[in-house]
Amino acid sequence: MRSLIVGCGSYLPARIVTNHDLAKMVDTSDEWIVERSGIRQRHIAAEGETTADLATAAAQAALNSAGIKGSEVDLVVLATATPDNTFPATATRVQSRIGMTGGAAFDVQAVCSGFIFALSVADNFLRTGQARTAVVIGAETFSRILDWNDRTTCVLFGDGAGAVVLRAEPRTGAPDERGILSTHLHSDGSHHDLLYVDGGPSSTGTVGHVRMSGKEVFRHAVANLAQVVGEALGANGLTPADLDWVVPHQANRRILDSTARKLGLPMDRMVVTVDRHANTSAASVPLALTEAVSDGRIKCGDLVLLEAMGGGFTWGAGLVRM
Ligand code: ACO
Repeated sequence: MRSLIVGCGSYLPARIVTNHDLAKMVDTSDEWIVERSGIRQRHIAAEGETTADLATAAAQAALNSAGIKGSEVDLVVLATATPDNTFPATATRVQSRIGMTGGAAFDVQAVCSGFIFALSVADNFLRTGQARTAVVIGAETFSRILDWNDRTTCVLFGDGAGAVVLRAEPRTGAPDERGILSTHLHSDGSHHDLLYVDGGPSSTGTVGHVRMSGKEVFRHAVANLAQVVGEALGANGLTPADLDWVVPHQANRRILDSTARKLGLPMDRMVVTVDRHANTSAASVPLALTEAVSDGRIKCGDLVLLEAMGGGFTWGAGLVRM
């Protein structure tokens, strides 16, 4: 079996916070944020609007675009580092809201790489016949774990959600067959202190805030992304020239530029949303994918590379024939 992406959807909270708005809250400026990160604005969830709300809206949009009812879904895998509650999994809330009555729903936690990890998990469920129709979601309300007095982190993140619907189909063996070709996951726990949240139920009993050594994270991100992109292409006997599109995790415009340079790809084949969404962690890849599918840039049959790197460290890539 292979997993076909048969629908995509996304949701962004209505409230937009610009760099100029942030400059009224902390000692920063639009010029600094744009120059160092490429970010101009971010969406921030309304009071009372939770990750499950964002995730459900994205999942429902993806199901609508696929023409599939929630009751036909037998797997929900939701990537988030900002769940509604410590337990149960936010995925179970989405499960009940989309009208799915059977199957399984659970969360995956790999921070900014979460969507790639969730996609890989769901793909393996579908390949082995353990599920037939999956909704894979990346959803975050990162605004809730930001220290709004720390200018080195609070300017970089935003809230949002994106989702895809996967359907298991038999392999035909035809060249250029549609579906997920492969996924590649990595983690290295030895760099914990470079990017983490200083709270949690078992350590402090508090929710905590994001702490990050930005320069170090940047260096690791560029190296790890180059490694995993090379691994994904090599595993499929492909070169960068074979790619129609790259949908990267949207952390920083300079990381995207560097990835494009390393691949020898023009920037107009990279989907870029970081300027408008900022870093939405697990939501960034499915948000960008949905945007490029909806506006007609990514077409059926295109070869698309998805990649991400985040806290853990975790990093991964997936190659998809859309
Ligand atoms: N506004 C104004 N000045 C600031 C701000 C701000 N918001 N934040 C930091 N500064 C200051 C610093 O205090 C420092 O001042 P100093 O020289 O007087 O000490 C100066 O700007 C330079 O700071 P650096 O940290 O060296 O700036 P850098 O060029 O490294 O850019 C950034 C910082 C944007 C965080 C960059 O390192 C980065 O993007 N790193 C990757 C982090 C990331 O993307 N993390 C997300 C999770 S992991 C992932 O998704 C890949």
